[in-house]
Amino acid sequence: MNSTCLVCSAAIEPFLSFGRMPVANGFLSESEFADEFFYDLAVGFCDHCSMVQLTQPVERERLFHDNYAYFSSISTRMAAHFEEFARSVTSQYLATSDPFVVEIGSNDGIMLRHFAEAQIRHLGIEPSANVAQVAIDRGINTICKFFDADLAREIVNRHGHANAILAANVMCHIADLHTVAEGMRILLGRQGIAQFEDPYLGSILEKTAYDQIYDEHVYYFSISSVQRLFSDHGLELIDVASQSVHGGSMRYTLAPQGARPVTNAVVEQQRREAAWGLARAETFDKFRAAVERSRDRLSEVLREAHKNGKRVVGYGATSKSTTVTNYCDLSPQLIEFISDTTPGKQGKYSPGVHVLVRPYEAFAANYPEYALLFAWNHAEEIMAKERDFTARGGKWIMYVPEVTVV
Ligand code: SAH
Ligand code: TYD
Ligand code: ZN
Repeated sequence: MNSTCLVCSAAIEPFLSFGRMPVANGFLSESEFADEFFYDLAVGFCDHCSMVQLTQPVERERLFHDNYAYFSSISTRMAAHFEEFARSVTSQYLATSDPFVVEIGSNDGIMLRHFAEAQIRHLGIEPSANVAQVAIDRGINTICKFFDADLAREIVNRHGHANAILAANVMCHIADLHTVAEGMRILLGRQGIAQFEDPYLGSILEKTAYDQIYDEHVYYFSISSVQRLFSDHGLELIDVASQSVHGGSMRYTLAPQGARPVTNAVVEQQRREAAWGLARAETFDKFRAAVERSRDRLSEVLREAHKNGKRVVGYGATSKSTTVTNYCDLSPQLIEFISDTTPGKQGKYSPGVHVLVRPYEAFAANYPEYALLFAWNHAEEIMAKERDFTARGGKWIMYVPEVTVV
């Protein structure tokens, strides 16, 4: 189906369709199976503004609400990452009197807590009430709303301009980026900077990490698409820095047009993107072929394990896994259960294919022959703590960057 670019309204066609999908974070109980919501998941590339995006985004209220499943502080790796992020912002951009920091999508306060502890003026904007409440209980100033230009004006009226606006793994979730970009410009005034990071298109393509594609990820950013979008709102991309988290992310720094020098890193990364063909249709055709190969291979490995009577348990009930399990048709016949440390997911079923999510203890008490690593982005942290599993003969099934059994 044809659609129009969410950023510039040019016509776009999907380059990859996954078919019917449930809400990626929509873990559910048996009584909710009958009413489960499905939509068509497909991604397209706009050759006018070079933004890669979902062609049919799901309305935000279905995704972010008072029962949002993702609590950022679950991962110790991410907690360390955000501590470092807060430290770098403080030393680079807050060396002024009475600075003010705003975070968009602050979740349970994983990053803002460091500003709160240092008694730096801060404000989190977090529309999912249950995770926002965790932050509030930790003493972190949080407003439970979606960020937009109107809210930015209200914040300026009450608190003044922000020295830094931060956002991690949330910009790519917001379909209407124009009101967000406009809000950022308003909130920054002349002095401030904005830093945000999201999974990077280059890494997704390089690793065939197609499981990054799901309802919450409306956009798959590149340097060129980010630059173009924000320049329409008077914000200039002045720096970029790759991050290893979430399978390869990019941190973008924006400042009011002309306010600060543009670093060489921006120019270099642009050059790399041109060499990779991140703005060429055939790059996405190659990606689709790689995704289809990956799906066929993973499906084969799991069907083989099942045929041989081996137990397979999923490790990490990630949102990403919803794309994989539904696209590769991995039913409870093939995956006994998914182990996850998030209390709110335990005892529920995974979206669409309905594999039961059980506490980590269920995995540890009775190791399966195979663990299918859905939380591959935390592989290092997980492998380090699961030496006992492998020492007892357990094997990992991985699918990023390639399907392997190790
Ligand atoms: N920054 C955290 C959380 C990422 S999950 C981290 O990196 O771990 C994305 C969060 O953004 C969710 O908590 C969601 O409720 C929030 N969110 C979604 N749309 C938003 C919007 N328009 N404004 C502010 N927050 C939003
Ligand atoms: P994550 O990969 O961060 O995010 P997404 O939902 O965006 O794909 O989610 C990690 C999930 O894996 C989360 O539900 C917690 C779970 N988890 C474990 O069960 N054990 C672990 O050791 C880790 C690191 C995560
Ligand atoms: Zn466009």
